[in-house]
Amino acid sequence: MKKFILFFGVLFLTVSLSGQKYQGLALTPPMGWNSWNTFEVNISEDLIRDIADILVSSGMKDAGYSYLVIDDGWEAMARDEQGNLVADPKKFPNGMKAVSDYVHAKGLKFGIHNCAGRTTCSGYPGGMGHEFQDALMYASWGVDYLKYDWCDHGTGDARQLYSTMRDALYAAKRPVLFSLCEWGNNKPWEWASDVGHMWRTTGDVTDCYNCQGEYDLGMIFILKLQEGLERYAGPDHWNDPDMLEVGNPGLTLTESRAQFSLWCMLAAPLMAGNDLRKMSPEILKILTNRQAISINQDSLGKQAYLYMNHLSKLIYVKELSGGDWAICWHNTGDQAYIQRINWVHFGFLQGEYEIRDVWKDKIIGTTTKNMEIEIPSHDVLLYRLSRKK
Ligand code: GLA
Repeated sequence: MKKFILFFGVLFLTVSLSGQKYQGLALTPPMGWNSWNTFEVNISEDLIRDIADILVSSGMKDAGYSYLVIDDGWEAMARDEQGNLVADPKKFPNGMKAVSDYVHAKGLKFGIHNCAGRTTCSGYPGGMGHEFQDALMYASWGVDYLKYDWCDHGTGDARQLYSTMRDALYAAKRPVLFSLCEWGNNKPWEWASDVGHMWRTTGDVTDCYNCQGEYDLGMIFILKLQEGLERYAGPDHWNDPDMLEVGNPGLTLTESRAQFSLWCMLAAPLMAGNDLRKMSPEILKILTNRQAISINQDSLGKQAYLYMNHLSKLIYVKELSGGDWAICWHNTGDQAYIQRINWVHFGFLQGEYEIRDVWKDKIIGTTTKNMEIEIPSHDVLLYRLSRKK
């Protein structure tokens, strides 16, 4: 009996002392806006207030974009004498709590960026060795979301460093969505589902379709790197192929629509990264397409898999709740082609389905009839199939 009690005592202690992430903060892929893709470190309290206002007035918040995340560049270059992080007094003269209060007053959630290494990728103080102190500071500012980068980590072990920050956030007793930004270097999909709510799978996305920079990749290369990762994603633990470039200058409207469709299919976090102050109505329409978003936010939480990869013809398939399916055809080539759709080839379908064209926003028929549709270069067809009752 004594042994029995001892066994359960030790078990209880181990479970209660072992670290954990805040569960249930990302049952569907997180949605929001992040400052990096457009503004890099050129951020300020005024900009963030403007963005918060527009997230609400444009209808983006109502469409699901709930996190406003300030990326790198918000800090002063050094910690204070007590080792606390401080906001850059020029960019954020009223401190981060004031910004957070503004964002919360708009009904949005507040996110911030730092790094598991000694300094961030832009050279500001990183979190290494200060995790518990920083987590308390974030809690006092009302932070709801932490993006944690991977620069200047030296010989640090990714799993260990990210787990330390997870434990620090938990100890600070404020639920914070933890977004690992480790670029896929250490295959976080294999170990991070109990560390964070999402993890980057690649280096940085940039606003072009098929270019490559030193560390940046166009959307088509990022897409390629997601193949085979679908089995690691699910509610509360998502693969993150990096943020949206929708509406940024290097993508055409067609490519913006394609990125949005494909990221929705991948159950990717939808973090807009465009200048909302200059957003065209067409881009707003893309970002707030309810049908596309409902595919992304589907409660089953399945990431699409590449069903067919035939030269420039990609077909992605995503299983949805209630027996529905989403299918996305993507033309990666330079020329338009005619896509023949013979529904018999989609062996997972059972019976007859109604087909909704997401971008036309209408029902275009049922799977009893084969189809021929032109897909322009870099464009997509995005269909939702619902079983006919
Ligand atoms: C890394 C990340 C980016 C961004 C920058 C900030 O490159 O991958 O998303 O956060 O750092 O310096």
